[in-house]
Amino acid sequence: MLPLVLDIVLATLSFPSVDALDNGLERTPAMGWNPYNAFLCDTNEAQYHAAAQALAQSGLPKLGYKYFNIDCGWQGTNRTADGVFTWNTTRIPSGIPALASYVHDLGLDFGVYSDAGYFSCDFVGGTAGWLGSLNHEQSDADTFASWGADYLKYDNCYAVSPTDFVDMNPPISLEPHFTAMRDALNSTGRPIVFSVCEWGVQDPARWASEVGNSWRVSNDIGPPPSWDNLVRIINQVVPITQFASPGAFNDLDLLEVGNQGLTTAEQETHFAFWAAAKSPLFISTDLTTATKETLSILSNPGIIALNQDVLGKSIGFKRRYTNDSDIWAGPLADNSTAVVIINWQNVSRPVTFYLSDVGFSAADATNVRTQEFLGTLRDS
Ligand code: GAL
Repeated sequence: MLPLVLDIVLATLSFPSVDALDNGLERTPAMGWNPYNAFLCDTNEAQYHAAAQALAQSGLPKLGYKYFNIDCGWQGTNRTADGVFTWNTTRIPSGIPALASYVHDLGLDFGVYSDAGYFSCDFVGGTAGWLGSLNHEQSDADTFASWGADYLKYDNCYAVSPTDFVDMNPPISLEPHFTAMRDALNSTGRPIVFSVCEWGVQDPARWASEVGNSWRVSNDIGPPPSWDNLVRIINQVVPITQFASPGAFNDLDLLEVGNQGLTTAEQETHFAFWAAAKSPLFISTDLTTATKETLSILSNPGIIALNQDVLGKSIGFKRRYTNDSDIWAGPLADNSTAVVIINWQNVSRPVTFYLSDVGFSAADATNVRTQEFLGTLRDS
């Protein structure tokens, strides 16, 4: 077996280094709002207006949450005679270009949603028949650009055939679907952030840094939100944290902060981990009814600064202790180290970790969440 191992090492060493997608966008993870975890695909124009107003008035945009995105449910089921993408005129009577203007007039950027397959995802078992962009990439990219899109989330339903709704083990390579849309977006000349959403099925961390500004690493975070879903996604990112870099990030999926099903501590852990892993941070709760607590978790300045650190490197998994705690760490632009400690037990308790697990014997420490200086720690 030894020569085989040696071959693999040599092959690895001779690979050219992979650069991030060169569209100049998303140098730090994108932040904004997306309706899906709150409203699924049941959205309409009035709801979007209320949601955009709530985002604009919340104070969150000045913290970085600048994208107002739409998700499933806005699309039509037929193209025009010229092959142009359409919207659902019952749900969006004024049209998507007017919605984009409404969002822009509030000082926000506008994100649209489409699909790399024959039809789009829906929440009714694939029966909605909403348009997808496969084989219409350039026309649709031109259309989205002309409507004023600043962001495109590109999903993966019906990627294999018009009768195969969700295929978690597709017999085709998905990458060409996404490179086609990347190239189409580039040729529009409009800067449009490109978010790859193939649910992590073909290991996108290993190819999508040259294709999209982010790539989903997993199946959906919900509905419903649950601690189990967070654990699943955290475990899934373990082998791929090294692929995050400016312009190209692991997407751990929309936030569940503010939604029923997670305790406050769980929501804080969720938000801190997503931020430190350099995931895009998309609020996905109803901001018209958000509580003070929800807004305070989402507004934490130290955690947001961690996410927006210009080095753009993710925390990586360092050690899982036998008594149910994890330690993760990663570098920051000012040469300090971000450390995330997770208590997996369902009780509050002191947790000891060793500085040697993150490469130190002593360190000045600050609690990022509270901004409290903890003094110089030695050994543990
Ligand atoms: C899924 C996607 C979700 C959401 C949903 C809409 O494929 O992962 O984030 O967009 O489709 O039906």
